Amino acid sequence: PALGIDVVSIFPDYLSPLDLSLIGKAREDGLLDVRVHDLRDFTHDRHRTVDDTPYGGGAGMVMKVQPWAEALDHVLAQGNPYAAKPRLIVPGPGGQPFTQALARELAQEPWLAFACGRYEGIDERVYEHAREELGLEVSVVSLGDYVLNGGEVAVLAMVEAIGRLVPGVIGNAESLVEESHEDGLLEYPIYTKPSTWAGRPVPPVLLSGNHAAIAAWRHEQRLARTAARRPDLLHASHAPGAEGGPEVE
Ligand code: ADE
Repeated sequence: PALGIDVVSIFPDYLSPLDLSLIGKAREDGLLDVRVHDLRDFTHDRHRTVDDTPYGGGAGMVMKVQPWAEALDHVLAQGNPYAAKPRLIVPGPGGQPFTQALARELAQEPWLAFACGRYEGIDERVYEHAREELGLEVSVVSLGDYVLNGGEVAVLAMVEAIGRLVPGVIGNAESLVEESHEDGLLEYPIYTKPSTWAGRPVPPVLLSGNHAAIAAWRHEQRLARTAARRPDLLHASHAPGAEGGPEVE
């Protein structure tokens, strides 16, 4: 059965890249079931208002509870083709970090619903309603420690990272395991023909045919690269060799 993905946004056109490339193909192949909804369709005033000023004062605008509650009701009322409720993901800079581990976890779910906030955020009662009345598991998820204008770009990134982990979306499943962030180390440098370009040779070991030497060189490169670019990955919370930690001898 396909992974169900609902996205609610005030800019549904922003999600049109989901029609393209690998994710678009996965939709055609029936592996992903993507539906994009316009939040303004759930307003009832002439101006299709989705935001208002914050109680207590402060800068910016807050997304109103009523359109969000009706949009979520509509997503749930599409029926229950997934024998489950959707897990609700709300992108936001104040959320838990989106990681490869979380992408793997979400790729196992039958149904995901993404709520794209804009402005300063969404009225807190939307989260309470989703949890308490609708019985949804709600996760606020951040793409990284920087601020975007809204959740749409974060959803594009998350759906791409999650979608490619759904069985069948990527033909060569082996290409999934040999990747940065799958085992805690960054990838080694890669080269293709010609063997020398503009006076720059490919590292000779790669032409040696010595598979053990090549594997050792690549592992060295991964360690050096990770130390240089992402030292946090080497001494993260887990000790070397611990579950989920990188293999560093
Ligand atoms: N919306 C605004 N900033 C964001 C971020 N860093 N991650 C996810 N969603 C966001």
